[in-house]
Amino acid sequence: MFGWLLLPIVVLGAAFIPNKKLANWDYSPLLLREGSWLVPIGKDRKVIYHNFEDYPHLLVGGTTRFGKTVLLKSIFTSLILSNPKKVRLFILDLKGGLEFWKYRNEPEVATVACDLIEACKVLDKVYKIIKLEEERFRKNNWSNIKDTPIKERTFIIVDEGAELAPKFVPKELRKYADIAQIYLGEIARIGGGLGYRLIFCTQYPVRDAVPAQVKINMVAKVSYRMAERMGSMVVLGEPGAEEIEAIPGRCIYKIEQKKELQSPFISDEMIGRFLHESGKDGNVSAND
Ligand SMILES: Nc1ncnc2c1ncn2[C@@H]1O[C@H](COP(=O)(O)OP(=O)(O)O)[C@@H](O)[C@H]1O
Ligand SMILES: [Mg+2]
Repeated sequence: MFGWLLLPIVVLGAAFIPNKKLANWDYSPLLLREGSWLVPIGKDRKVIYHNFEDYPHLLVGGTTRFGKTVLLKSIFTSLILSNPKKVRLFILDLKGGLEFWKYRNEPEVATVACDLIEACKVLDKVYKIIKLEEERFRKNNWSNIKDTPIKERTFIIVDEGAELAPKFVPKELRKYADIAQIYLGEIARIGGGLGYRLIFCTQYPVRDAVPAQVKINMVAKVSYRMAERMGSMVVLGEPGAEEIEAIPGRCIYKIEQKKELQSPFISDEMIGRFLHESGKDGNVSAND
């Protein structure tokens, strides 16, 4: 008899379910879409993917220990599992290689650089390849890799980008950091359309940690909890990250609008297993 009431009640009820139903969850390769450049970033009521074909670069920020490196590792795993042999990864693991050195022998990993000088060499190499690609694109009248027959994509993953910032390095290394800033800026500015994607991650909530040219060219951002509003302004360009609950994996993903998500958990053991299960030779061993 009161059936007609059901719909309004359900609609009203849904509006009052708090958007705080974010719970910890584990990464799974079943989330992936083979051959695509979609990577899961987190979940609210459903899994939210970032599409590197639409938004080539990604800025990741947040206070230490809230999940930046875990996110980078899940993106790393997604890229390899979705596009084995088609993805090439240059990793600048500037916390001494502690997180990614163990993956250096994956066929898709071109290099893992562990300090500023090595990172500069890698950026120099990538920049030179990009300039050659630019010429090839021009000759073929191509303007965006999406509209070409090229299936390969290259990612430059920087974990702790502030280690490349002139203000953060000792004086004698400043010239390297100056060069790194220029290369990073150029990769962000011209690399996207040519198939070069920059994932730049920093824990330092200050403007100098992110090269200006990188920031301008980053449309997509992920921020974990920040201690202060200022940090949110640096990464998201607006407040909000300082209000994220202090839970590891809780983040805001922003393209045009902000979405609060819980990013998937992945461990090195899981990564080794997933790469191995996919028939790839995961290089994480007990001794690594
Ligand atoms: N998505 C997540 N879900 C659950 N726990 C997480 C998640 N991300 C990180 N953590 C926990 O927080 C710790 C720190 O994460 P990490 O990515 O190393 O932080 P950061 O790189 O920001 O310093 C991890 O070792 C893990 O225990
Ligand atoms: Mg980290």
